[in-house]
Amino acid sequence: MNLFLKILRLLPPEIAHKIALDLLSLSHRLGILSFIFRKPNDENCSFAGMNLRNRLGTAAGLDKNGDYIDCLGALGFGFLEVGTVTPMPQYGNPKPRVFRNFNENSIINRLGFNNGGVDRLIKNLRTRSFEGILGVNVGANKNSKGDERINDYLHCIEKVHKYADYITVNVSSPNTPNLRNLQSDENLVDLVTKVDKLVNKQKIKIPLFLKISPDESNTIIEHIIEIVKNSSFSGIVATNTTIDKSSLSNIKYKSIEGGLSGEPLMKKSTKIIKMIDLKADKKIPIIGVGGVMNKEDYLEKISSGAGLVQIYSGFVLKGPKIVSQILQN
Ligand code: FNR
Repeated sequence: MNLFLKILRLLPPEIAHKIALDLLSLSHRLGILSFIFRKPNDENCSFAGMNLRNRLGTAAGLDKNGDYIDCLGALGFGFLEVGTVTPMPQYGNPKPRVFRNFNENSIINRLGFNNGGVDRLIKNLRTRSFEGILGVNVGANKNSKGDERINDYLHCIEKVHKYADYITVNVSSPNTPNLRNLQSDENLVDLVTKVDKLVNKQKIKIPLFLKISPDESNTIIEHIIEIVKNSSFSGIVATNTTIDKSSLSNIKYKSIEGGLSGEPLMKKSTKIIKMIDLKADKKIPIIGVGGVMNKEDYLEKISSGAGLVQIYSGFVLKGPKIVSQILQN
């Protein structure tokens, strides 16, 4: 591991995250990023009507406000998903709220949608020079209740659709109380029906995805598949973090509240991808995410049914070199 990654490990996680991304951004602006990190060759592909230079992207949460679009794009990602963004800016949960478990290549977070609000994100979307595919992940403010919650999603979709290549509706964060209830039958039908109406009214042409949790029962996943099939949604992002810590060995981390990501999530999220692919007869485009730490994991997601693959924890724990390592031939 290089010295820089070692130093970042000594700093508190959120500070390390900001410093690392600020340095990437500075290197990009100075024109030296491509000398530090080799850009992978293009492997053009298409997915859900979008043309991409490769199948690897960032997962939501890495760049919540779209502050780092150009430098992340310059690393060679085929697509970036920014957000989760909510209508109003919000601080999120009290700190500490991110915990890195280096020995088990994993992270637990309970950030709670900290972000600068949709208007700030839009400013960054408008001024980006990254020409790859840009997805925006939308969510609800913590203080929104009942129908207000659904209105938050609609508000964000309405605002961002002109500046994005796709939108992900995130109903699976474990860190906003009761948000995951939106995945259950009646609530999801209500949300999806209202999104469908908006899509028709605004003539929204870009693909929409639903991001789901890996902790749902088979029955709920089957319902989700049926609802997505009969809606304006194009596909599914599988999966978000898990609240199940049973795959961890270190007792200290088992009791930390929040969503677990990284290596211990790989099997669980891949199982969900396989299930969706099977039950939907390969007809639902899937963006696979959860636990990708190397090229082998990336290929496993694809062979399990994912058309595109995202990374978060692997990027944070292994550094930007992971992009070319995964994409090298
Ligand atoms: C996330 N993730 C996430 N997902 C999402 O839809 N909206 C978000 O705002 C966030 N925020 C966030 C913060 C942190 C610190 C982490 C570690 C993760 C979940 C992320 O997009 C992804 O689904 C999971 O992390 C699983 O992928 P990895 O990390 O195992 O590659």
